[in-house]
Amino acid sequence: VITKIKARQILDSRGIPTVEVDLFTNKGMFRASAPSGDPSGMYEAFELRDGDKGVYLGNSVTRAVNNINEKISKALIGMDPTLQSQIDQAMIDLDKTEKKSELGVNAILAVSIAACKAGAGEKEVPLYKHIADLAGKPHLTIPTPAFTVISGGKHAGNNLAIQEIMIVPIGAIRFDEALQMGSEIYYHLKAVITEKHGAHGCNVGVDGGLDLVKEAISRTEYTEKISIALGAAASNFCQGTKYDLDFKSPNKSGQNFKSGEEMIEMYKELCAEYPIISIEDPFDKEDWEHIKCISNLGTCQVVGDELLMSNPKRIERAIQENTCNALLLKVNQIGTVTEAIEVVKQAKDANWGVVISHRSGETEDSFIADLSVGLSSGQIKAGAPCRGERLAKYNQLLRIQEELGDDAFYAGVEWRKPL
Ligand code: PGA
Repeated sequence: VITKIKARQILDSRGIPTVEVDLFTNKGMFRASAPSGDPSGMYEAFELRDGDKGVYLGNSVTRAVNNINEKISKALIGMDPTLQSQIDQAMIDLDKTEKKSELGVNAILAVSIAACKAGAGEKEVPLYKHIADLAGKPHLTIPTPAFTVISGGKHAGNNLAIQEIMIVPIGAIRFDEALQMGSEIYYHLKAVITEKHGAHGCNVGVDGGLDLVKEAISRTEYTEKISIALGAAASNFCQGTKYDLDFKSPNKSGQNFKSGEEMIEMYKELCAEYPIISIEDPFDKEDWEHIKCISNLGTCQVVGDELLMSNPKRIERAIQENTCNALLLKVNQIGTVTEAIEVVKQAKDANWGVVISHRSGETEDSFIADLSVGLSSGQIKAGAPCRGERLAKYNQLLRIQEELGDDAFYAGVEWRKPL
């Protein structure tokens, strides 16, 4: 049973406070922390921050920490950690708000993940196996990773409007091979950029970025095995009914203002020119009509991140309206492990792809790696193949592959619908 829960404030990969929890049972201590990202709107769970501008610029999370130490711990002590849905429900009942704004999703999620780890510990099975049991799923799949190799949008200081260009090693045979491909191409890309644009990087548009990636891939022997995914995050550059591809440029010419129809044409041309297999948030999060048009074009996967915000009601609407065909799951947008399992099921029942995603603010917690294997999501997006908090996830997938041995099924070419 759960004997003690102790929370503290730590810093995430951006240097911004987040919540860490140590949850104790008779089997030992189980630690988890909450990731954090750019809030994308009113449909996601609420992150509780102290708001005192004099302390961490308002971002400290001592209220969320205290909610765990004083309220959540009282409600959960004595519970069986294998009963994930009851633990999550107890926190939801204690919170009483739709968006978890009373206790804070950063408090609730950190405890939910720690309890999930404790549940696995109680059963003495690996975390991914416990998650698969919770989801009632017999299959385990190592996901195909999408490695971010060029960042733009709000995540970078360059002029690139779209948020990320990712490489997806669908042709790898195993995950370790996929990771090697990702790492090698990442370093080739660094060399290509230095050769063409100098050591201080470059300012290119989406075509320019894709050309650099294409060249980096061509310097390896993996050309046939690597596909490309785009994370457009188009809400960031939508102005009214137009999309401003120069939104970060100081000298705007106005020539790069595109209508929804022109954006569709642009995506079509990019997909024809480059091996693009997936586009995330190609339009503004409320531009349901244009996303729908693009989803009906060709075989490219269309992923809803900001469009869906991992919210079951938004997902349901998108399923009904046939708006996109893949869910990007960010666990802290929904808030508990149980609800994350449910929305993944909702997406899979609709025959959608599922991408388990990191946040821009991550910690060394590798939970999403196990989640992705346990839910057989088929796809994971955890950033570049470098930096500790990103590699925490990819390295955990290496360990899981090793542990599963011959049973390790790498999603690879089955990335959209693994067995
Ligand atoms: P975030 O985005 O800033 O919302 O966490 C991360 C991502 O989608 O890769």
